[in-house]
Amino acid sequence: MLRVENLSRRFGDLLAVAPANIHIRRHQTTVIMGGSGSGKTTLLRLLAGLEQASSGHIWLDGKHDLSCISQSGLYQLRQRMGMVFQYSALLNSLNVYENVAFPLHEHTQLDESVIRTMVMMKLEQVGMRGFEHLMPSELSGGMAKRVAFARALITDPELVFFDEPTSGLDPISAGVVSSLIHRLGQQTRLTSVVVTHDVEAGLRIADKVILLWQGHVIAEGTAEDIRHSDDPRVRQFIEGNPDGPIPFSRNETPFHEALMAGL
Ligand SMILES: Nc1ncnc2c1ncn2[C@@H]1O[C@H](COP(=O)(O)OP(=O)(O)O)[C@@H](O)[C@H]1O
Ligand SMILES: [Mg+2]
Repeated sequence: MLRVENLSRRFGDLLAVAPANIHIRRHQTTVIMGGSGSGKTTLLRLLAGLEQASSGHIWLDGKHDLSCISQSGLYQLRQRMGMVFQYSALLNSLNVYENVAFPLHEHTQLDESVIRTMVMMKLEQVGMRGFEHLMPSELSGGMAKRVAFARALITDPELVFFDEPTSGLDPISAGVVSSLIHRLGQQTRLTSVVVTHDVEAGLRIADKVILLWQGHVIAEGTAEDIRHSDDPRVRQFIEGNPDGPIPFSRNETPFHEALMAGL
């Protein structure tokens, strides 16, 4: 569905994403893993057309190049995509129902009765039916994530991007959220790209894994390939050994994520 050729992104002297060649296959869950600062969010934002590439191309369906498309062309194509940001980014002044309905109110002229049916179906799908009157401040982290999923899915996108869907959640909520992503993928044949530093959750839901280290793709394959890899860098990452050959963190404060959270 997406074919990436020589895609890179620099911030000044920092090569956040080194030239990468990647395929995102239709109806699969592709998981991008790596330590903090390894370029996961930047790569995800490039793929979603939210970040300008420094080089390379991103082909959608082999015919639209997202790296050099007009704003209006991109706007059209983004109707087919959904995005779940790391900090859920719910609108604090709107309740659960209004948050999920928001993209429909913004982009469609549908009747409120139709919108209501669609919102209720999505809330049902993510296990949040009955909570539509709660405000974001009344939700737990896991509930907020599920509302954010419902909002990203409300327009029935073909392709959904998730940034750190389980970060900041307790282990049980994280498990619920991971299995929800997995189940949505199977039920709706969604194409999803999930960024995570959570190795177990990532390997569990991935059809394909891309492992990043300091902006470079150091491994690509199925969860099984990654689990059985004998590359010491890959082993260090999946075994969570901080004393191996690679310093996995480049930067502890990816500041644009903090900016995104304010949206
Ligand atoms: N807008 C930006 N301006 C400058 N540097 C940035 C910007 N966004 C990300 N970076 C830097 O690029 C690197 C990769 O960041 P990021 O993609 O957020 O990593 P990850 O999501 O894997 O933690 C980090 O060193 C980060 O500080
Ligand atoms: Mg990130």
